[in-house]
Amino acid sequence: MSFYLSHSAEETISIGETIGNSIKPGDIIALKGNLAAGKTTITKGIARALGIKEDITSPTYTLVSEYYGSIPLYHMDMYRIESVEEFELLGIEHLIFGNGLSVIEWSERIEEYLPDEHIEIDIQRQEDGSRQITVKGLVV
Ligand SMILES: Nc1ncnc2c1ncn2[C@@H]1O[C@H](COP(=O)(O)OP(=O)(O)O)[C@@H](O)[C@H]1O
Ligand SMILES: [Mg+2]
Repeated sequence: MSFYLSHSAEETISIGETIGNSIKPGDIIALKGNLAAGKTTITKGIARALGIKEDITSPTYTLVSEYYGSIPLYHMDMYRIESVEEFELLGIEHLIFGNGLSVIEWSERIEEYLPDEHIEIDIQRQEDGSRQITVKGLVV
């Protein structure tokens, strides 16, 4: 388990870049933390490490965005998914089991689909506005 303390969005992006440099094809990252904790922000850094030049925007409404860098990045936001049935209707579960990197915000909503072996990043906003970032399942 690794801990980081971030004092700015840019610092969170750098931490994401460090994490992104250690991932391998097929990895799955469950992103935990409240609204506006910084889940999409840290994904920008992960994407940067994969050489993705496009701007990473929140997939809250599109539910999944695909980017093609050194490996594919599937950025998902399951906030609006209310049941496993709803997730299955999307027909995107094959992405999670593919050879890209899946980064899943609000993965709690599709817990049943998460393989036991996954990376977890938990972002907690502190009272002073800084973010405590905990990484499990990956040596960084
Ligand atoms: N240390 C920090 N790390 C990440 N985001 C921060 C930080 N400080 C302030 N912010 C701001 O908080 C917001 C986080 O938004 P976002 O990454 O979309 O959150 P989430 O995806 O968790 O809902 C952004 O507006 C960002 O600029
Ligand atoms: Mg988000």
